[in-house]
Amino acid sequence: MESLLGVFNGEFLPVNDIKISPMSRAYTFADAVYEVVPYIKGKAIALDLHLNRLRRSCEAIQLNVDISIVEKEIQELAYQVLMNDNGYIYYQLSRGTDAVRNHLYANDLTPESFGYATLIGKSNNQQIAKIVSDIRWGRCDIKSTALLANVMLMNQASIEGCNEIIMHRDGYITEAGSSNIFIVKDTKILTPPKDSRILAGITRELLLQNFSQSFNILEEPCHLDLLTEADVVFLTSSTKGMLVIDEIQNNAYSFNQNNDLFTQLRAAFNNFLETAF
Ligand SMILES: Cc1ncc(COP(=O)(O)O)c(C=O)c1O
Repeated sequence: MESLLGVFNGEFLPVNDIKISPMSRAYTFADAVYEVVPYIKGKAIALDLHLNRLRRSCEAIQLNVDISIVEKEIQELAYQVLMNDNGYIYYQLSRGTDAVRNHLYANDLTPESFGYATLIGKSNNQQIAKIVSDIRWGRCDIKSTALLANVMLMNQASIEGCNEIIMHRDGYITEAGSSNIFIVKDTKILTPPKDSRILAGITRELLLQNFSQSFNILEEPCHLDLLTEADVVFLTSSTKGMLVIDEIQNNAYSFNQNNDLFTQLRAAFNNFLETAF
């Protein structure tokens, strides 16, 4: 397979040609944060919001990086690879390379950066979710590359015939494996409130900022019981947009294909993505 175009510490090259030390703290501790910036027909969606979130993630882990350089590299990758296509840029910033593995980092490490661009095709997979206990750490608001809990939960779900997870803490829904969750019920659309138990998704933010009044979208604690009676459960992320959950394992939920509130919101949101940026 042809190698994707990447950028490593400012140098643009195929990702297969990048060489990184095993003493990089990205490798030993996942001491790193990241972003995924979506492009539709070659246009970045909400680039400023993504860069601001990256800035906040860096501040949260006390990583000092010039985000204007990141912005230029993201734009260059997109220019070279995405042109007029749909795709995304992955970009991560990590602490740097240690002389010897040590939880305490030296203050003079040079941060490392790595990004790549790739196209996205359309997927028509049915989304079948498994409800699982949220076993992640207490700072899910930081977009950290340390995602082992998500990896474990999603792969166990996959072994059991599901391709998504809906996580909860003490019966209250947090989010899905790599997206936020919304529940349509009668005249309301509910989503769990923003706190350290979830990642504040940019797609979630765009929906709330632009459509909460016209579509009655509310941030409220969402108990698992809501799923059974829901008209539509859908996920949001930069790469998925708004994606319906078709089935939830061991749950009576069924997707109501004729739900007007959802259908209208999805049309309005897709139109917004095509026209607002
Ligand atoms: C755990 C988690 N929640 C939510 C999201 C959605 O965030 P965004 O809409 O910014 O892509 C992601 C995206 O990667 C995620 O990993």
